[in-house]
Amino acid sequence: MDPNLQRILELRAEIARHDYRYYVLDDPSITDSAYDTLLRELARLEHEHPQFCSADSPTQRVGSTPAAGFANVTHREPMLSLANAFGEQELREFDQRVREALGIDTVDYVAENKLDGLAVSLTYERGVLVSGATRGDGRVGEDVTQNIRTIRAVPLRLHGRPPEVIEVRGEVYLSHASFRALNAQAERPFANPRNAAAGSLRQLDARITAARPLSIYCYGIGAIVGAAAPETQWDLLIWLRQLGLRVSAESRKLSGIEQCVAFSREMEGRRDTLGYDIDGIVYKVNRRAWQEQLGAVARAPRWAIAFKFPPQEVATRITDITVQVGRTGALTPVAHLEPKLIGGVTVTRATLHNADEIRRKDIRVGDLVLVRRAGEVIPEVVRVLVEQRPVDAQPFVMPETVANAALGQRIQAIVHFSSRHALNIEGLGPRLIEQLVAAGLVADVSDLYRLDAATLAALERMGEKSAQRLLAALEHSKATTLARFLFALGIPGVGEVTAANLAGRFGTIDAIYQASPEDLRAIEDVGPILADSIHGFFQDENNRALIKRLVAAGVHWPEAGPVIDANKGPLDGKTFVLTGTLASMSREQAAERLRALGARVADSVSRKTDFVVAGAEPGSKLDKAGALGIPVLSEIELQEMLQ
Ligand code: IVH
Repeated sequence: MDPNLQRILELRAEIARHDYRYYVLDDPSITDSAYDTLLRELARLEHEHPQFCSADSPTQRVGSTPAAGFANVTHREPMLSLANAFGEQELREFDQRVREALGIDTVDYVAENKLDGLAVSLTYERGVLVSGATRGDGRVGEDVTQNIRTIRAVPLRLHGRPPEVIEVRGEVYLSHASFRALNAQAERPFANPRNAAAGSLRQLDARITAARPLSIYCYGIGAIVGAAAPETQWDLLIWLRQLGLRVSAESRKLSGIEQCVAFSREMEGRRDTLGYDIDGIVYKVNRRAWQEQLGAVARAPRWAIAFKFPPQEVATRITDITVQVGRTGALTPVAHLEPKLIGGVTVTRATLHNADEIRRKDIRVGDLVLVRRAGEVIPEVVRVLVEQRPVDAQPFVMPETVANAALGQRIQAIVHFSSRHALNIEGLGPRLIEQLVAAGLVADVSDLYRLDAATLAALERMGEKSAQRLLAALEHSKATTLARFLFALGIPGVGEVTAANLAGRFGTIDAIYQASPEDLRAIEDVGPILADSIHGFFQDENNRALIKRLVAAGVHWPEAGPVIDANKGPLDGKTFVLTGTLASMSREQAAERLRALGARVADSVSRKTDFVVAGAEPGSKLDKAGALGIPVLSEIELQEMLQ
């Protein structure tokens, strides 16, 4: 064989293996830069020897030139839809219908998350991805093969011994983290992750799709030739996973309807922590023979049901629009809403972001609007229901300045300082802060630590008891970490993660005072503008004086110790396992930093594991940690520990 071809084939196989570990197993085994080196070598060889180019090469995941439109694809087996169950009563009725039709007392079900994305069908022939299509009308969909190829979690080649032909069914989606990152740079932000995923997948220019981190979970099959489908849905999921496809680790095999009801409740509680949108749970009769016996009505199977969660988008009316002054002085318009329960939380306000956004969406006071809240995302107005606009709806004019802007800014700065992820001063909320500022007792955060019981107790709505409680909380807040302190200062552009990175890198406030903008840029996510802003903040005499006053008042944190001896670090003997995507660093970087502190980083969770660090979209390792009762750290907690 031509040695170049041989090397090309080796590289393709190796890169495919790393893609699989990274995007499907969520468990990479090489660094990002080592991966890039492999990919570059492959691209160079293919460029030099174009006769060896191939559609299943990982270099072809970048998308090609724009198509004029999408061709149609007829699915070999139609893509069905699902009947819905709203509420537990309807779920129980579904089970009853199933039991009666089968004449069986207890039915085994598989519960799967119902992802809120786009259904797709992937056709593999002899293990090679030959086509990717949208659902369309269920019979005929659109050919989005070029776009599907750019999704790294979609294998271009199946593992093991794939059947001659298989249609794999799954849902393409965008995680919350990817959605936020995409919207942060988008000229016209998407209303929600689903729209963003749909817009990305249906791009005629697949190069645009390639730049959008779509992912997929596979949950079923259509046509299959040359092999028998597994006997049960549960075995099907296992088989799909063995074929190298990405399958959710949240799926469960359950026995009887009561377990399903319990699972629905559990997932509804955990819904906000998954890192992606789900709009319900799909329950499927596990046994295929029973599925066949039950059949389908209209275009929905009788053997499956979508249990729908209460919607995260609800219509409500805007009663007023006011302007909020941020701690940096930025003005943000806020819609006041008729209170509505959205996804289990009463929402009374939604951010309108800025004047442009209001103009673009043509939002007026009095309008009926769709409001959305998902995960920890701030509630937002998705769109106006223009057809229902009252005649007297009032356009909003954004003021250039607001009266008392300086006062508002001061209050917001104190609110931020005392917030949970900053100094976490319990009981010191916005109302009380306004009161303290209005009474002239507090002008900046350092004044908080000068308050005494008598002054506080004399305030309206304050008794001796609450005064004592607040003083205790203030006292308690003095012992903090450098990361929290830096975050609390409200340096423009410095969120929790950057604050933790700053603390981790510099260790002491003095080292930060001495850091040049170039030094600051060494920190992940700190570009030239932010570096200048941070540098400027710490050169400002007023800010230094404030920090000095806070330290004098007793605010303190452990200073970073002396340079760490790798043989006996502070984390010596501790074993960590990392799962999911971290926002501030790659998993490999996290592992390196942990090792530098003496920790061991392992690939899998066992009884010997001391901590599991879970980023966004954690894998099954998180479940295992839960099962073994191993403490799970968030990214912020990891950052604090790395300090
Ligand atoms: S099964 C034979 N499973 O829901 C039943 N669908 O309302 C066909 N969906 O078009 C669908 N997660 O877009 C199935 N675990 C899951 C799903 C799922 C999301 C979507 C899919 C489908 C729609 C049906």
